[in-house]
Amino acid sequence: MAFSSLPLVHDTPPADLDAEIRRLKRERNAVLLAHFYQESEIQDLADHIGDSLELSRAAARTEADVIVFAGVHFMAETAKILNPERTVVVPDLKAGCSLADGCPVDRFKAWRAQYPGAVAVTYINCSAAVKAESDYICTSSNAVKIVSSIPKDKQVLFAPDRNLGLFVAKETGRELVLWPGSCIVHETFSLRKLEALLLEHPRAKLIAHPECEQPLLERAAFIGSTAALLRFVQTDDAPAYIVATESGILHQMRRKAPGKQFIAAPPEANCACNECPFMRLNTPEKVYRALRDLSPAVELDPELRQRARIPIDRMLALS
Ligand code: 13P
Ligand code: SF4
Repeated sequence: MAFSSLPLVHDTPPADLDAEIRRLKRERNAVLLAHFYQESEIQDLADHIGDSLELSRAAARTEADVIVFAGVHFMAETAKILNPERTVVVPDLKAGCSLADGCPVDRFKAWRAQYPGAVAVTYINCSAAVKAESDYICTSSNAVKIVSSIPKDKQVLFAPDRNLGLFVAKETGRELVLWPGSCIVHETFSLRKLEALLLEHPRAKLIAHPECEQPLLERAAFIGSTAALLRFVQTDDAPAYIVATESGILHQMRRKAPGKQFIAAPPEANCACNECPFMRLNTPEKVYRALRDLSPAVELDPELRQRARIPIDRMLALS
């Protein structure tokens, strides 16, 4: 066997990985931000757990020298746009997003150009390049508010999630021009299996993320971002919930509302497709290595970063 194919001895993770991550966080003056869709071990190590909006806010106000972003690439990019002087690292650079990947900047620009004078509201699940071509960024928490703030005589373009766009159109009564994108996780749920589950658990409520398809949303007792879903189960009085979003959120639901039952909405196929394959590329071992090596780091062209910041700042000011 060639020597170079042997595993690197120094890359073996330490026996007490959690303690080592906590030690490195102190040594690096680092903050660990984790999205609700991260595996529970990463959530338990995080300084802030939240939805896309809460994590953008946490990134905007941090004083740490290093931000370790346990989420997907567009989230870490947003943190870098808000913190050009800080080091932003990710556990795995390949953690992308089907929505961001399905909306390349050249196609987005060509689409926009068909609607001169229209206002482009873009979901935060997009690249920095697409952000730089947008008027407003929104998240699932504030999309309704952002679209409502735009004068009624303006045509509004909404990209890249069609399902969220349809939900916003319904809530605001506005006609939106929609980009035809969707999330591979939120389109996986089976309405047929959900109906059967609701019959099996008659006291359970179906709650859903607005990235789900319309027929499912029409059956839901509550629709909201991951943070809104988490708040809802803490204040609502149902004993059980069927949760139609990435199953990582169930960890915080069980913690914040003990005694209630949480059932992950089932995908049509017999697979773990209600776990985001991009989010789940991150592991505690990769968080440890990112902190140890300060790599992989997110870097952005300064001119692009400045342009991408404008619609993000508009969103933060409005929400
Ligand atoms: P939140 O806005 O709820 O964080 O959703 C982000 C996301 O990627 C949903 O799939
Ligand atoms: Fe993107 Fe969907 Fe994964 Fe969210 S769950 S990061 S929208 S692929």
